[in-house]
Amino acid sequence: MVHLIRVMVNGELREVEVEGRRLLVQLIRDDLGLTGTHIGCDTTQCGACTVLLDGQAVKSCTVLAVQADGSAITTVEGLSGPTELSLLQQAFLAEDALQCGYCTPGMLMTATGLLRRIPLPSDREVRYALAGNVCRCTGYGSILAAVRRAAECGSLAAANTPSASTESQTTPIADRND
Ligand code: FES
Ligand code: FES
Repeated sequence: MVHLIRVMVNGELREVEVEGRRLLVQLIRDDLGLTGTHIGCDTTQCGACTVLLDGQAVKSCTVLAVQADGSAITTVEGLSGPTELSLLQQAFLAEDALQCGYCTPGMLMTATGLLRRIPLPSDREVRYALAGNVCRCTGYGSILAAVRRAAECGSLAAANTPSASTESQTTPIADRND
């Protein structure tokens, strides 16, 4: 059976006809052409397919597309501004938190969901949040460092700029001296 669903994807309203069995990751990649969301396992283990669904990080291979009807979806394509990477993306670059980059969209989306819930998480909270995201080539230490760096820069920006918020996360990161 085919269903007409409406989703707000990266701020744009999309209407799509999907079969009831279609997965959210298939909708995102194949129907909407947003291939930054990756498939690493299809069995809910790797986290490469993570997106934000109404602000919550979810593994999109585990959600049916029809379940997202009426929801807001943010994919990795929706993280950066028109001219610059998000604060978290810049932190990943600064900390060398990626090699092949296959896991990176999922890492970024999970960490973005965490930082929106907890702007300055402890290392334990970061590790717990990222426990469902697998990386086969970069040390997890650099990923942890990147999330910590983005959190610290975000908090600093929020403290110094009353209008700044963790939602926009586009303030450039100054090079750290340590
Ligand atoms: S593809 Fe969804 S968790 Fe691996
Ligand atoms: S950077 Fe290669 S899998 Fe994570």
